Amino acid sequence: MLGTRADDARHFSISSFDPQRASAEEWTQALAYWRLRNEEDLPGETVPDDAHTVQNVRQHSPLYLVHRVFVRDTQGVLAGSINMSVRRGGTADYAAHAPFVNAWGGVRKSHRRQGVGSLLMRELLTLMDAEGRTTATFNAHLPEGHAFLSAIGAAEKHRTMENRMTFASLDNEALARWRAEALAPGHGLRLEIHAGRVPFERLATLMAPLSELLEDAPTTGLARAPMRFELEGFRAWYAEMDRRGGEHFMVLLLDGDEVAAVCDASWNRLYPDRMFQRLTAVARRWRGKGLAKGVKAVMLQLVRERHPEVAMAVTQNAEVNAPMLAINRRLGFAPHRHDGAYQIGTESLRAFLSSRPPALTEARA
Ligand SMILES: CC(C)(COP(=O)(O)OP(=O)(O)OC[C@H]1O[C@@H](n2cnc3c(N)ncnc32)[C@H](O)[C@@H]1OP(=O)(O)O)[C@@H](O)C(=O)NCCC(=O)NCCS
Repeated sequence: MLGTRADDARHFSISSFDPQRASAEEWTQALAYWRLRNEEDLPGETVPDDAHTVQNVRQHSPLYLVHRVFVRDTQGVLAGSINMSVRRGGTADYAAHAPFVNAWGGVRKSHRRQGVGSLLMRELLTLMDAEGRTTATFNAHLPEGHAFLSAIGAAEKHRTMENRMTFASLDNEALARWRAEALAPGHGLRLEIHAGRVPFERLATLMAPLSELLEDAPTTGLARAPMRFELEGFRAWYAEMDRRGGEHFMVLLLDGDEVAAVCDASWNRLYPDRMFQRLTAVARRWRGKGLAKGVKAVMLQLVRERHPEVAMAVTQNAEVNAPMLAINRRLGFAPHRHDGAYQIGTESLRAFLSSRPPALTEARA
């Protein structure tokens, strides 16, 4: 007995969305759908206008390739979507990335609990089987996302939280003290600051030491390729900032030529009131000496001087990262949202899908 599920599934069709080839009509539909999904899932969040969304989706990413799939109902209305990002063949460390696919997406509220999410999982499994990938990773922050990922048999492997702070609440005296303590002559450290862009020649020399620090950030039980900063990634990001307006800030504390501590952040013209905190890290032998507080204090003062319109700082932290969370709390950061990173393998995905009625979709467009 197929039941209503299969009947529901019969009413959906699946098609790929290729940003380089999509027709004007496909773009119009996609943009309306993304706007609606943002309103439904992230009410009140600022979203870029359509022209920027088109540019972002069209932009070539040198390191990753994104496969985009849409599900439509019988009226042709976009019901759901999945994006599946894989490492591009021929890039550095390809073998370490080859088992993985990062997936994100969703289903519009009016079409939930009708098997659309499951249909999208079939697309994911098809891609994984075709390309020999074994692990898919998703992030969820909404209750429906957590419920769905548990239902399909994905395991929560890591938790992060987005913390936010208002600049108006900053304790300026504490910032000045933190800066002075980190720069105390006894430490013998030198401060290097970049505001706007870091020159590529300098970035090139920083890729290895900063990657080592990044790799040391906790990711709990997540299976993953090594986390690396890559020059090609910076080139693409800087090109994007050149286009839409944005700045990259970096504060380094150097012991001779070695990086003792780093803090980097960005500013995006589309969200002019925000500072986006990126990595803050201290080399192991320099920990416990107030350097993280020092580089963060220098960063906050720098961004405030350069962008007086900035009112809020936004950062992502691992829930297990007690030291970073403690510093952020002292700066006035408070939790804004919690995210779970889930992973699932092909066998679990196949088991879930085999327990669901077959997807009787129309021919793939
Ligand atoms: C998560 C999401 C994609 C699910 O889409 P969907 O089309 O409703 O999913 P399905 O109908 O295929 O559900 C499959 C199973 O997942 C579970 N499930 C899905 N939503 C659930 C919910 N809100 N509460 C409890 N269980 C849920 C159920 O077991 C369901 O089977 P059932 O309906 O037979 O009980 C959708 O809720 C959504 O877009 N959420 C917001 C975006 C998001 O969180 N994305 C991140 C996850 S990738």
